[in-house]
Amino acid sequence: MAERRFDVDADIRRARTPPRELYFDPQWFAQQRETVFARSWNFASVSAGLETSGCARPLTLLPGCLDEPLILVRDTHAKLHLLSNVCTHRGHLVVERECALAALRCNYHGRRFHLDGSFAFMPGFENAEHFPTESDWLTKVPLAEWRGMLFASLAPNAPVNEVVAEVERRLAGLAIVDWRYDPTLDKTFEFDANWALYVENYLEGLHIPFIHPALAAKLDGKLYGYENLPYGTLQIGSAAPGELAFELPEGHPNFGQRIGAYYFWLFPATMLNLYPWGLSLNVIEPLAPTRTRVRFLSFVQDPAKREQGAGSGLVQVEMEDEAAIQQVQKGMRARSYRGGRYAPTAEIGVHHFHRMLAKWMA
Ligand code: FES
Ligand SMILES: [Fe+2]
Repeated sequence: MAERRFDVDADIRRARTPPRELYFDPQWFAQQRETVFARSWNFASVSAGLETSGCARPLTLLPGCLDEPLILVRDTHAKLHLLSNVCTHRGHLVVERECALAALRCNYHGRRFHLDGSFAFMPGFENAEHFPTESDWLTKVPLAEWRGMLFASLAPNAPVNEVVAEVERRLAGLAIVDWRYDPTLDKTFEFDANWALYVENYLEGLHIPFIHPALAAKLDGKLYGYENLPYGTLQIGSAAPGELAFELPEGHPNFGQRIGAYYFWLFPATMLNLYPWGLSLNVIEPLAPTRTRVRFLSFVQDPAKREQGAGSGLVQVEMEDEAAIQQVQKGMRARSYRGGRYAPTAEIGVHHFHRMLAKWMA
């Protein structure tokens, strides 16, 4: 399979957007699976519900893309482990549903593992040589816990605290950090478009006045800000006069400003939207080259503020974005489309994303 590569000029004033095949070709998608998604941090689960020893939660990391079967297990020393859910004997899944356990036991031939994934027992292996060794343990997968969220990476290229450093800087002193995950507010969306189109759309506010009239009225369009970060981007939405804003403490980087929303994107597929009510986490799951699932998870600190300002009406905004993205997906099929150019002031985040994607895929 020929390697797919593209380049984006470092100078946004000259740069052109990626080739249209990026958005539908199965080979590009397969290459991203290994070069982007298998190496980056991706949301795995919430921490809630995993507090007691012996609780085990199976999950599939990025279904449709990585399809990696994993288990979260709390051991008897209160340590949380992320393990491969694939039995080291012949590959049956070990845990099939969320449960409480004293040990992990594979139902196919009875191999048992301790809660940290180390090998415990297997019938029929009495005469096996050099057995067991560490290769018979369930593989440990890097896990990072951040403010009620669990992130997994099959081969992390940076520590999570570096990835979220700027999020922490903007969160400092804000009441919302005491947020709690509210599962009743979970929402899932699926649409016919490549995952990267969803990310690109998220990374610019240029479209807000055109497709999001209700949101546009809550933001001060003249004060919309962009900052590129080592592992993502930040967009800062200033509240329109009379709309809800954060109460920022003295010493905060935006002290004295009326900020209605912080929109963080973390490479490749995590969005953290900070509002005066709490956090809306968007998890992007590429299901196929032209099919994407997006999950919204809400971490609420002040429920009374949920229907005010830029943090309200999120489903309507999502529907408006999905409609636009699906149109762009159709546009990518057109042989006549040769890629576009970037708006040098408003599309610095899109340009940054494309440059990161090109670098990771190379
Ligand atoms: S596959 Fe698990 S015991 Fe055989
Ligand atoms: Fe949008």
